[in-house]
Amino acid sequence: MTKLATYEIDIVKSNTSKLETVDFENLVFGRTFTDHMFYCDYKDGQWQQPKIVPYGPMTFEPSARVFHYGQAVFEGMKAYKDEDGNAFLFRPEENYERINKSAARLAIPEFPKEYFFEGLTTILNMDKDWIKSGKGNSLYIRPFVIATEPAISASPALTYRFMIICSPAKAYYTGGVRVLFAEKYSRSANGGVGFAKAAGNYAAQFYPTSLAQAKGFQQIIWTDANTHENLEEAGTMNIFFRVNDTLITAPTSDRILDGVTRKSVIQLAKDSDVKVEVRPVSVKEIKEAARNDSLKEIFGAGTAAVISPISAFEHGGDIFELELKSDSYAAFFKEKMLNIQHNLAEDPHGWRYKI
Ligand code: COI
Repeated sequence: MTKLATYEIDIVKSNTSKLETVDFENLVFGRTFTDHMFYCDYKDGQWQQPKIVPYGPMTFEPSARVFHYGQAVFEGMKAYKDEDGNAFLFRPEENYERINKSAARLAIPEFPKEYFFEGLTTILNMDKDWIKSGKGNSLYIRPFVIATEPAISASPALTYRFMIICSPAKAYYTGGVRVLFAEKYSRSANGGVGFAKAAGNYAAQFYPTSLAQAKGFQQIIWTDANTHENLEEAGTMNIFFRVNDTLITAPTSDRILDGVTRKSVIQLAKDSDVKVEVRPVSVKEIKEAARNDSLKEIFGAGTAAVISPISAFEHGGDIFELELKSDSYAAFFKEKMLNIQHNLAEDPHGWRYKI
């Protein structure tokens, strides 16, 4: 682990709060940010003094490497509040480990664990009033690292900034999501960065997704780049298929994000005696299952998306509409997950982390 220059956080508090101006009932995902942000710079081979300052613009040179080569990684996590005002994170160790796995792949130095947790808990305590209680409310937390060195040769930067910003959130998707199964474009390849939360993984989806949207589909379920025969992930979420009463999802690999919600659904399914198969899922079998009525549902699982049912899919010109049922696995696992996150149910696996 990288040596620390110092441990205490320098704090400059905001003189005013935007809290009273926010309409918490009508939030658009990712548009509103809390009063403070955390940041920590890396230079001379070590992470420097961490700081919390009022949320606002920052200045970087136009030559900062992130603007040219996309040397940037991020995380998505959420804080929840119970009815007594206690705030919790959900499996934050997973996010800490994953941001450093992503960072390693992008040649970014590891961020120290003490800084991550101290930064996270300090900013969340300062902006605690932004976490609203009630199922469906959360504070979305976005840790990220960017390469700040002002130099445009194509090589890893010598300076970085790690930051945490926070945004109150409701649902990412409302209602069922209509998806295309990818036939031409690819999200990731063997040996690539698909498993990492690399900023460029998301930018690369924008163009094909806009083509899908023009056809009336909000998202793409990406298939393997070699054959386009196996279903992998949706880019904003991992994907589960229910065939009869069995839940099927693709195994993680260097092409697929190791989602925290994904692994939590798999565990909850095992706890609930729902049969789960983690194995390659082919387009062919899912189309066949849709045709013979054994495909009961498809849903996505992700931090922002929580658990979002898929209401239709398209492949090869065939469109399959999926009925959204109230007794679905999607509804069952979403309820179970939210109850744990909001401290309304036992937490047998120790996933809640009290702030
Ligand atoms: C998340 O679920 O946290 C993600 O990173 C998806 C993002 C596109 C909002």
